[in-house]
Amino acid sequence: MKHKEKIIVTNSFEETQRLGEGFAKKNRIIALYGDLGSGKTTFAQGLARGFGIKRRIVSPTFVIIRSYNIKNTNKKLKMFYHIDLYRIENEKHIEGLGLEEIISNPENVVVIEWAEKMGKLLPKERWDIRFEHLKNDKRKISVIKNE
Ligand SMILES: Nc1ncnc2c1ncn2[C@@H]1O[C@H](COP(=O)(O)OP(=O)(O)OP(=O)(O)O)[C@@H](O)[C@H]1O
Ligand SMILES: [Mg+2]
Repeated sequence: MKHKEKIIVTNSFEETQRLGEGFAKKNRIIALYGDLGSGKTTFAQGLARGFGIKRRIVSPTFVIIRSYNIKNTNKKLKMFYHIDLYRIENEKHIEGLGLEEIISNPENVVVIEWAEKMGKLLPKERWDIRFEHLKNDKRKISVIKNE
């Protein structure tokens, strides 16, 4: 089921980070979409902070997958995976990454930049967050819950 879309406009990277931070409550699989520089990593940094992760979240572009220990939740969620599929060329390449295993483990939180590259491998139960660059520091952010 697809829930109603919610649209938010942020005016600074801090606002986008705070939005991400607020997502750290109940959401396990978060798919991020949007052009280069639209705010996906910024949002992921806020999300990590919301999970009590103190380490600096850098863009995982060159490593594709980075993982962090979650500190402050109800113990059901243990690892935070930040995945960036920008450099992925096709679904075959994705199959070699072991993403299905990471995603299916209920102890993992998974945030995926360029999530559209996963195609059918993207699980149905997820949040879709789309980023659009408006003028200057404004970003339009669309949020949809799928279940
Ligand atoms: N409202 C805003 N929300 C998010 N980022 C903003 C905003 N205003 C300005 N910025 C700036 O825009 C840039 C967003 O970069 P970010 O790395 O988050 O984008 P990205 O979508 O992850 O890009 P990429 O596809 O290259 O990974 C940062 O430099 C950030 O400071
Ligand atoms: Mg990024």
